[in-house]
Amino acid sequence: MRIFITRKIPQIGIDRLKQAGHEVIVSDVDRPLTRDELKQKVAGVDAILSQLVDKMNGEIMDAAGKQLKIIANYAVGFDNINLKNAHDRNIAITNTPDILTEAVADHAFALMLAAGRRIVESDRFSRAGKYTGWQPFLLLGQDLLGKTLGVVGLGRIGSALAYRAAQGFKMKILYYDPIIKSSPFDTEVGAKPVSLEELLKNSDFVSIHVPLLPETKHLISTPQFEMMKKTAVLVNTSRGPVVDEQALLKALQNRDIFAAGIDVWEFEPKLTPGLAEIENIVITPHIASATVETRDNMSKLAAENIIAALKGNAPPNLIKQ
Ligand code: DGY
Repeated sequence: MRIFITRKIPQIGIDRLKQAGHEVIVSDVDRPLTRDELKQKVAGVDAILSQLVDKMNGEIMDAAGKQLKIIANYAVGFDNINLKNAHDRNIAITNTPDILTEAVADHAFALMLAAGRRIVESDRFSRAGKYTGWQPFLLLGQDLLGKTLGVVGLGRIGSALAYRAAQGFKMKILYYDPIIKSSPFDTEVGAKPVSLEELLKNSDFVSIHVPLLPETKHLISTPQFEMMKKTAVLVNTSRGPVVDEQALLKALQNRDIFAAGIDVWEFEPKLTPGLAEIENIVITPHIASATVETRDNMSKLAAENIIAALKGNAPPNLIKQ
């Protein structure tokens, strides 16, 4: 059967698909495809391996044709795919959960440290030749040890971050999750489920781990920044639009919070004007899962999902619609 991959991914998954006897076509341009290019490339394929930047809706599904059986997203998030359109056309949708949990949790922790301890700002300061010698008040940051971490969304990644914080840095854990009201964490690491308001008011570090849904868009905006401590650090590795970036800019400029670390941006790949000019934010370009091992594993898992679906089996990471 024919499979179209919308952008080059690690070879391991491509090899698996070929070994399973499929014809694999990989986009030959190193950028996201335009709508027209995508519609043209998917015509007649049985499976699409998509990236989180490809908007997969009925238009693309229809351009592929009735033989399309699966869209395997090369990401754990799947807000780029219209599940209803897929369901109506009997197309399976899969993602790549679990295998990227630890890499993303590591990155969230790295952002907590980098923003809290002003690492990137210090690097810029040093490179600019501004260091004139040791000073008592130079680039003071925030401690992590024993502080309170508020985890917004206690799924796989939020839990993995909470473990790191509780076990490595003896942090107290508060969590807010609209669905999970208690967890093994409550006894294991003394985590406490609270309302979002309580979490924001009491946390020294706040890390966001919710999917992008209509209900989570701008979950963190001006009223939420106003609830946070002036010393708080906000980290976002989920999806950019969960945080109102204009409100974030204002909160950082007014020092309503101490700092932020963001891996995901509201209008990727465009950054809200002004954010790049302020010192108290660390910005990475959606690379939380970007380790060699994790990207290989994502490639393998996306391929396994396609192989299963094309055999007529339930793919291991089928998203219930
Ligand atoms: C995902 O898998 O959804 C991540 O955002 C990719 O890094």
